[in-house]
Amino acid sequence: MLVKDIVTGITSHRCYTHPVFDHWAQNAPSTEVIGALFHHIRRFCDSTRPGLNLPIGLQKIGLSQGSELLQEIVESEEDHGPQLATMAGHILNRSCGRTLCPDLYDQTAVEAKLQEYSDRVLGSLPGYDHRTGLMPQTRNAIAVFERRRDTDIDSIYRNLGTTLALEMISNRHLIPGEKRCLIDSGLYGTSIDEPEMHYLKEHFGETGAEAMHEQNAVDAVGSILDDSNKALVKQGADDFLNTLSSLWDLLDAALLQSGQERAVAAATFQAKQPA
Ligand SMILES: [Fe+2]
Ligand SMILES: [Fe+2]
Repeated sequence: MLVKDIVTGITSHRCYTHPVFDHWAQNAPSTEVIGALFHHIRRFCDSTRPGLNLPIGLQKIGLSQGSELLQEIVESEEDHGPQLATMAGHILNRSCGRTLCPDLYDQTAVEAKLQEYSDRVLGSLPGYDHRTGLMPQTRNAIAVFERRRDTDIDSIYRNLGTTLALEMISNRHLIPGEKRCLIDSGLYGTSIDEPEMHYLKEHFGETGAEAMHEQNAVDAVGSILDDSNKALVKQGADDFLNTLSSLWDLLDAALLQSGQERAVAAATFQAKQPA
């Protein structure tokens, strides 16, 4: 029953239905904007992969089942960084119709290109760090995962809540959102079976990595949750959901101009024009 409460809290948070990916599909952003979007998405995703001290911390307090479930998630994340870079470079090439990233398997070169575009379109905003190409909102979202270094018991419970929210959002919001704007929109002429889109094939759907992660996270939280730690688990989930929502708000406002409103305004304007 208790896990259900936490799960409901996550699915009713505004992050769960954030329109950023739909606005991407509607706005058909420029190549530079796509690069900037991918830069912030990939820096955030990078921070979520290492388990740091969380699996060992769980082990130490006798929660070995939770530890094993977490370790399985961490191991399945291997190679996802390079796969994400390949997909991002492929979308950049497709969006501008020429080869901006000649070697899609050169992760460093693709990621440098993404940051170059982020510097160009976001670099004048207050708080932008030119060394890393990060905004305060990106750094805050990343900082939530740095807490996996802490092994005190309260941090462990909070980190489990963060993990559950991360895996649910990945499986039900982020990966489906990427599929909608990168494949289903038809903007880039891609299909899920293209080798360059392997990242999405690996993550999407009932047989994808994120469905397994979500199940593991639900089981891990379910194995420890009780009235004494419920508030901490919920706090960890909320910290993740709030910081990621702020990052999506920033990218949406700065790069996609909160496209929903713009699209509606354009449609209204057109409807008012004499035939
Ligand atoms: Fe992944
Ligand atoms: Fe995941």
